[in-house]
Amino acid sequence: MNASSARPKMIVDCDPGHDDAVALLVAAHVADIRGIVTVGGNADLDRTTHNALVMRDLIGIDAPVHRGCGHPIVAKSQYAPSIHGESGLDGADLPSPVTPLDGTDGVDFIIDTCRADEGIWLVPTGPLTNIGLALRRAPDIAHRIAGVSLMGGGSFGNRSAVAEFNIWADPHAAAIVFETFDRGSPGPLGPVPGSLIMAGLDVTHRFQLTPERIARTGALSGQLAEILTGLFEFFSGTYLSRHDAGTMSGAALHDPLAVLAVSHPELFERRHRHVVVETVGEHTAGMTVIDERKLLERSAPNCDVLVDVDADAAFDIVIEAIQASAPRV
Ligand code: RIB
Ligand code: CA
Repeated sequence: MNASSARPKMIVDCDPGHDDAVALLVAAHVADIRGIVTVGGNADLDRTTHNALVMRDLIGIDAPVHRGCGHPIVAKSQYAPSIHGESGLDGADLPSPVTPLDGTDGVDFIIDTCRADEGIWLVPTGPLTNIGLALRRAPDIAHRIAGVSLMGGGSFGNRSAVAEFNIWADPHAAAIVFETFDRGSPGPLGPVPGSLIMAGLDVTHRFQLTPERIARTGALSGQLAEILTGLFEFFSGTYLSRHDAGTMSGAALHDPLAVLAVSHPELFERRHRHVVVETVGEHTAGMTVIDERKLLERSAPNCDVLVDVDADAAFDIVIEAIQASAPRV
């Protein structure tokens, strides 16, 4: 699908991943995708890159795919097969991609694209390795982007009691991203103008793939709807099998909220907070430390923490995006 100038410009940095696939679908519908960059996370980089190529053609996205980093900056690689399956996108017979990979240095692609145009949103929905390295290698881009809208973090964890997977998988990269927007300790080029939005577990757990929403998807015609229905059933199955009975109605559909936070901000409730990432704690590495104190001495906010979403309206957009897709395969 072709982008229009009326929609926010985005680079989606992802580790597909069932919910990353929906983030790409929604971004194709509501944004001007300037590029897709892949990162290791839900599965290894070969698999997440293959899955991104498959989803690009299934959705009919008119944007390049660039392979990013396969390993965190410091931490060792760890994946999530228990949630997403060995392929990273288990649950459906996926077609082979027909459009070839466009590049193998995703960090350079991010830098070059943000230097060639202003006002691009970086929308990471996996570990933040590519984004952190791009900001380190080219600090100037922080002054050119509209901001970073990320899926990650929260006031509680899923990979540990306090750490959410995307932040936990590469806490050093995440720390770079959150520090970049900390105007209390600006970088060499001064405070950055853009915004940092955190779609953490507090909001994403309020956007679940309920049986009703999976049924709505299954009632749509076409190959994409059929494939997504299988993916949703697998993804929700793994989620429900790992949570106390009755605490979840389906998988949390995390990643599309990082996209919708930019295109549809009215769907969300947010808190302006100071957030830092713990990188060394034996029990807390990967924690997003959100300063909720009412003390005037607290640090100045650097982040919009999303805390609620109009889930029905958000899923209506997912349905619209499926109906608007133009598969290439
Ligand atoms: O913790 C959830 C996040 O980790 C989502 O982005 C999911 O796709 C995985 O990357
Ligand atoms: Ca993801």
